[in-house]
Amino acid sequence: MTQQIDSDGRLRHLLTLDGLPRETLCRLLDRAGQIRDTALGRTQRRNLLDGTTVCTLFFEPSTRTRSSFQIAAQRLGADVLNFDASASSTRKGETARDTLRNLEAMGVRGFVVRHSEDGAVDALAEVAGEGTTLVNAGDGRSAHPTQGLLDALTLRQAKGADFSRLKVLIVGDVKHSRVARSDLHALRTLGTGEIRVCGPQSLLPDDDTLAGCTVGDDFDAMLEGVDAVMMLRLQRERMEEGLVASLDDYHRDYGLTQARLGRAARDAVVLHPGPINRGVEITDEVADGPQSLVLRQVSNGVAIRMAVLETTARLSPEAARF
Ligand code: CP
Repeated sequence: MTQQIDSDGRLRHLLTLDGLPRETLCRLLDRAGQIRDTALGRTQRRNLLDGTTVCTLFFEPSTRTRSSFQIAAQRLGADVLNFDASASSTRKGETARDTLRNLEAMGVRGFVVRHSEDGAVDALAEVAGEGTTLVNAGDGRSAHPTQGLLDALTLRQAKGADFSRLKVLIVGDVKHSRVARSDLHALRTLGTGEIRVCGPQSLLPDDDTLAGCTVGDDFDAMLEGVDAVMMLRLQRERMEEGLVASLDDYHRDYGLTQARLGRAARDAVVLHPGPINRGVEITDEVADGPQSLVLRQVSNGVAIRMAVLETTARLSPEAARF
């Protein structure tokens, strides 16, 4: 795998939270917290990336990630090139690698990449030019590092910086979820007291993804006393047939309702990365209720993405690098 940290210990690419040093992760969270007002447009736009172009190179659909990277880059003064795979020569069979090399030839040095294949962003980082920086905006089931960071920031704002006493429950389609993997990496790095993972056996990974977690398929039991519930979307686009009997059955066994949430700690918070399958993994009442941090996650996404773009940009002696 491409080294995302260079020989001087600085972040060049952000490909995964797996192995990202705690100090680097915390610095990104701290920075995002500081610039949150800027991120939400309440203070002046900054010009760190003036004269540079950031390309959102998305081979899969997105609302939150793509839009928030675009806003983040613009708030830092960059021009943004939104690459639309569905209207590009990708449709004629051009590879992601050739697409990257062609955009680099136009002077683009910053890429935010989403792809359906595991490892696709790592593979692009392997062939990227010397001055190019890549941020993984989600590859297959593998990683969604900025989602992991924004979820950690949201939890930290709600529960404080000491995660050692927290009980966090991740629920649902863990098997197909890059969000779950990045959340698990962030939660472990931050020293979370107990990480519980719950879902039907058919949707739990059978590799070492869940090492060190308390794992079970009884949602009601797993909810007891937790401080945070991180719900996952059913990844129907990545799912083989028959893993879930029916959406009604799934909701009955793993849907978060207000009554169920009563089993968690009184001040428990609820997260969901979106997009939400309302009435399947979570009810409207919970998604829009007082314990839900769903929209705070979205707001924090802009701040985290500004912090990531800012941090990787610092590699360059001149802003033109990114
Ligand atoms: N959470 C998330 O990645 O949402 P999008 O697919 O809309 O970017």
